[in-house]
Amino acid sequence: MSFDMTTMEDIVSLCKRRGFIFQGSEIYGGLAGTWDYGPLGVALKRNIQNLWWKTFVEDREDMFGLDSAILMNQKVWQASGHATGFNDPLVECSECKTRLRQDHIRDNKCPNCGKVGKFSEPRQFNMMFKTSVGPVEDESSTSYLRPETAQGIFTNFKNVVDSIYPDFPFGIAQIGKAFRNEISPRDFVFRGREFEQMEIEYFVEEKVWEAEFEKWKAEFYKWFEAIGLPKSMVHELDVGEGDRAHYSKKTIDFEFDFPFGKSELYGLAYRTDFDLKNHEKSSGKKLTYVPKDGGQPFVPHVIEPTFGVDRTILAVLVACYKEDEVNGEKRSYLALPDALAPVKYVVSPLVKNKPELVKKAREVFALVKKKYGAVMWDDNSNVGKRYRRADEIGVPKCITIDFDTLEDDTVTVRDRDTTKQVRVKISELDENFAKNISAV
Ligand code: GAP
Repeated sequence: MSFDMTTMEDIVSLCKRRGFIFQGSEIYGGLAGTWDYGPLGVALKRNIQNLWWKTFVEDREDMFGLDSAILMNQKVWQASGHATGFNDPLVECSECKTRLRQDHIRDNKCPNCGKVGKFSEPRQFNMMFKTSVGPVEDESSTSYLRPETAQGIFTNFKNVVDSIYPDFPFGIAQIGKAFRNEISPRDFVFRGREFEQMEIEYFVEEKVWEAEFEKWKAEFYKWFEAIGLPKSMVHELDVGEGDRAHYSKKTIDFEFDFPFGKSELYGLAYRTDFDLKNHEKSSGKKLTYVPKDGGQPFVPHVIEPTFGVDRTILAVLVACYKEDEVNGEKRSYLALPDALAPVKYVVSPLVKNKPELVKKAREVFALVKKKYGAVMWDDNSNVGKRYRRADEIGVPKCITIDFDTLEDDTVTVRDRDTTKQVRVKISELDENFAKNISAV
């Protein structure tokens, strides 16, 4: 069976069963639109974030990192346009009273009760979560949980320029939580109310925005390859004027073939100088860049590549989920790139009731774990079942210590995707591993 037949049920049940993703507040019946990442999920998430940070910050000379506060002065959201413009059209079914996002309704039919054409007039629903800062709750204490990480970057533009004075062009990157009171969260982690973004604001001169936009488009394709998303499953959508966010002059959505249909995975937007200009006007602070060659100060324009973390995880799981047959038995495995695998190696003794084997296996485990951290010990049931368990969570290699190990100091290294096994000397494991996980 190939990945294009992977269902949401396959993914959701794997995530729950093996500890990748759980429903938020599950023991209390859940809280719609929230998800908790379990031991394997958080490892996968961190690996994705670390690879992203390495790719887009550490490996480049023109990118700088940031970690700004989630709560911001309410004036930020007035200046950015979110306080008035970050709305979705809300309608109510007059039959069952369910509230729905108008643009998500298909064939004018209520997805809850099935009635056709029984909706109220749409009203604009602001998606920001409102809260109050400090002990007095009034207009002046209002704040919001940020609906995008981007504004923290714009409001720190001056701080970064003043403290680093980078060459131009340059970008600022940040990974962090964002919150949206989605009218109808759905499709597992695809549309949550609390989620994470990895965002870049790349500052350019207006006259070169198109060329910079194209360069960033190419970067997305390198990223897709690095995280194991086949090009055939990604599609570009040039978003029409009416559908673009209020700040954007051009947006390309990168859509992915999710099991529930082709939907937005990432976005690339040309935000012009909309944000910096508005914050300049609203704060009274100059948000300009002074060219190092003595040219005139100017407010930069912005190219924004934005990546949802949760949607990345979902897309990676969908693309990497495979089913095949080994020795007449069905197996499922996650063909994750090594850099993303939450567990890099499983180490096992062939059997657990032979103390000399267990002792040797423990030595190998300690060696490998010290070096690579994300290494698991498994001595339950038989070796075949261990391999299946490891395959299911995407462990690239399993190492088994058997009676030959005691004679010649070699172990079996078994590959997840091909199921092939090779004998490797313990003293050469290091070299063997280094080759295998060079992408990490
Ligand atoms: N700063 C630009 C911005 O926030 P966006 O298209 O609204 O643009 C960026 O969001 C990315 O965040 C999306 O491409 C998607 O990956 C992710 N995202 C947006 N809303 C989401 C939600 N409700 N649940 C999960 N991820 C979401």
